[in-house]
Amino acid sequence: MGPMFDLQIPFEDQATRVAVRLDVLDRLGSLLTQLTGGPPRPDVLLVTDRHVGQLYGHSAAESLRQAGLKTLDFQIEPGEASKSLEVVGEVYRYLAGHSLARDTVIVSLGGGVVSDLAGFVAATWMRGIRFAVCPTTLEADVDASIGGKTAINVPGGKNLVGAFHQPILVAVDPACLKTLDTRDVRAGLAESVKHALVSSDEFVTWHEANADAILALDDPTTVELILENLRIKANIVQKDVHERAGLRMLLNFGHTIGHAIEECCRFALRHGECVSLGMVAACRLSHAMGLLDESVVRRAETTLARFGLPTELRDPIETDLIMATIRKDKKIRGGTEQFVLLEAIGRPVVRNDIPQQAVRDAYESLLP
Ligand SMILES: NC(=O)c1ccc[n+]([C@@H]2O[C@H](COP(=O)([O-])OP(=O)(O)OC[C@H]3O[C@@H](n4cnc5c(N)ncnc54)[C@H](O)[C@@H]3O)[C@@H](O)[C@H]2O)c1
Ligand SMILES: [Zn+2]
Repeated sequence: MGPMFDLQIPFEDQATRVAVRLDVLDRLGSLLTQLTGGPPRPDVLLVTDRHVGQLYGHSAAESLRQAGLKTLDFQIEPGEASKSLEVVGEVYRYLAGHSLARDTVIVSLGGGVVSDLAGFVAATWMRGIRFAVCPTTLEADVDASIGGKTAINVPGGKNLVGAFHQPILVAVDPACLKTLDTRDVRAGLAESVKHALVSSDEFVTWHEANADAILALDDPTTVELILENLRIKANIVQKDVHERAGLRMLLNFGHTIGHAIEECCRFALRHGECVSLGMVAACRLSHAMGLLDESVVRRAETTLARFGLPTELRDPIETDLIMATIRKDKKIRGGTEQFVLLEAIGRPVVRNDIPQQAVRDAYESLLP
């Protein structure tokens, strides 16, 4: 693996190398050339959004150019609306217009919006070119950057179009988080708590013991947090790369009710905030189904609250609307009504026999 990388995650036809360090962006060029070899060096298309471009675009591009990589930039508008076919079309036109070769590497610099979009372009341009990710939000550091799911939104729903395409490199500079909105940092922590709840009591304890340092974005603590999340997610994804074996589904813990809330509140809440609420509901549902001890439900709630995440839905949404949204979601995605529940921390189970009334009750328990 070499001293430059912290993790190496083998997938079917290639590996994803991971580097989590301060100032990794300044070394992006040498990390990438380690993997691509040469000369000749490949061309790079650096995709970012306007916010992130202003903050970190220059140092990333500079580092790539210094490593001898011809680097072109493409900036998108920040926000979920950019994960669209229109924007994909613009990137295709840019790639065609600049005659970039098939060995081009697309590097995404930004949050999950940028990596989902840039990854989708990389997966489809010339039937797939290489892709590297530099995540800059905590959501992307601990979740979106790894696992190879790329996606865009279409009028029928979020993430309905996509492809599996593993990055060759995930390079995380935790220093980027210092410019991120506190609310976005907390939202990202919801996914970290999710990974802990579905995988390891020890990691939940770690969150409890290090809450102050985590919230303060203490450097070594942040590095540890990100690395452990990437390990946990990679471990699950590796066993079910294309989401066929039902294992990868465990990562949807808290996401069924969470997604419904997210959609119904018209994105007034952050994704992570909705997932926090969804996890509280899923824990209570697990308890109601006789699977999970009440003390664990309280422990999960306390941990989420400790990170400033909501455990109560202050602006209630009608239960019927939530239930209809869950049903619609399942129908579009062609699944049965499956719920990821917990038997204990680290012991998630998938159940398809949950009565509607129990789901309603769990959701309504979130209302003030
Ligand atoms: N592919 C996956 O496995 C996966 C997993 C989780 C989420 N996602 C996707 O990720 C998206 C959400 O990603 P996100 O939460 O990272 O949001 P985002 O990419 O929209 O970023 C949030 C905001 O923060 C700004 N920003 C990013 N980094 C910054 C920094 N370091 N400093 C200051 N501002 C910064 C962005 O410009 C944007 O305005 C969703 O579309 C979701 O579907 C994908
Ligand atoms: Zn999520």
